[in-house]
Amino acid sequence: MKVWPRAVTWRVAAALALAVIVIGSQGEGGSFALVGKAVAQSSTGSSVRPPKNAVVRAGTGDRQPWGSAAQLPTNIVKQPTDAGYWRIIRKGMRGRVTIPNKEAGVLIQTLQARSTVFPIRVNDWRYYRNGPLSRIGGWLLLAVLVILVLFFALRGRIKIESGLSGRTIERFSALERFAHWLSAVSFIVLGLSGLNMLYGRYVLKPIIGADAFSALAAAGKYSHNYLAFAFMVGVVLMVILWIRDNLPDRYDMGWIMKAGGLFSKHSHPPAAKFNLGEKVVFWSVVIGGVVVSYTGLSLMFPQLFTALQSLELIQIVHAAVSLVMIAIIIAHIYIGSLGMQGAFDAMGNGFVDENWAREHHSAWMAEFKGKPKVEGTAKKGGG
Ligand code: HEM
Repeated sequence: MKVWPRAVTWRVAAALALAVIVIGSQGEGGSFALVGKAVAQSSTGSSVRPPKNAVVRAGTGDRQPWGSAAQLPTNIVKQPTDAGYWRIIRKGMRGRVTIPNKEAGVLIQTLQARSTVFPIRVNDWRYYRNGPLSRIGGWLLLAVLVILVLFFALRGRIKIESGLSGRTIERFSALERFAHWLSAVSFIVLGLSGLNMLYGRYVLKPIIGADAFSALAAAGKYSHNYLAFAFMVGVVLMVILWIRDNLPDRYDMGWIMKAGGLFSKHSHPPAAKFNLGEKVVFWSVVIGGVVVSYTGLSLMFPQLFTALQSLELIQIVHAAVSLVMIAIIIAHIYIGSLGMQGAFDAMGNGFVDENWAREHHSAWMAEFKGKPKVEGTAKKGGG
């Protein structure tokens, strides 16, 4: 058997040891590099090798004899990865800033609402806006349109049963009509531009193209911001002018019992200046108007009324209340124009036919004519 010369054996062993050292020290994560790092961390930073029995201070202040296994400081906070950092920031982490605006310490705002009743997904405003809000809002508007089409198909236009008398009486003054049309025109632009913000990119953009959509959306956004003030002024005026006539009165119950006479041709429940259906429209515009004004101003001027963190919730409330208002106003526009003969004139030129007034607002008509107020149900032709 051939025996290796001793010198060759030593040379092979030395070569292997060198290879192990080179491979082991490759890169940051190499095992030797780690050992070296640990030793460096546990030393005081000096390159001078301390005596064998010396003790060195670890990060925590623990004493450790030289040569024993390095003990890493226990107060090192585990550092998140890049994705981890962004996850924390996305959850609304607040950092420290030295500028006066402390809100700048929050890079990404998140939905702050939490509910114990409904499981609200926190930190996902987009989910609500593009999900349930848009979906339910879309169905609501579609449902109103379908109901109105069905109502028109079955009931037709509500006519003045006794026909036009040819005599008119003043229903709304110029100031009342100004207040109405100020809020009406601004609301229609606000509604259309708002709907464009919510649905435009899905409905309009594919039809008119990206460039035209972008120009339209920008114009809509400016109109939305400026016309909001016209709407607010209009609503305030309507409150001043009409709040007294929209308080509950003794005719409301009768109006409800007869469903406003909307579904049968010969039923005309008496009503004063505004019937219960109109009061519902009025209070929806007033209460909804206050909510959309408050939330809209908060979105326009962040931090005016509320903390920046609430803006996502504020946006959801703004859009949801607006969608409900739009649904109510679509029905109002229908009944004030196509749906009822003689109604538009009230807001058009301010005058209505006497027979229209007798059929739909008999108590107001009687009062107008200086007669005692009507009790009970008005028959065909008014009371
Ligand atoms: C083209 C759109 C519109 C038309 C044709 C229209 C028509 C009318 C008419 C005819 C009346 C008087 C009803 C009566 O004599 O009893 C009225 C009243 C009223 N309108 Fe409008 N309107 C429109 C848009 C709006 C809008 C957008 C709003 C609110 C944002 C609004 C709010 C009101 C309120 C609060 C009243 C008083 C309560 C009532 O009669 O329902 N209107 N409207």
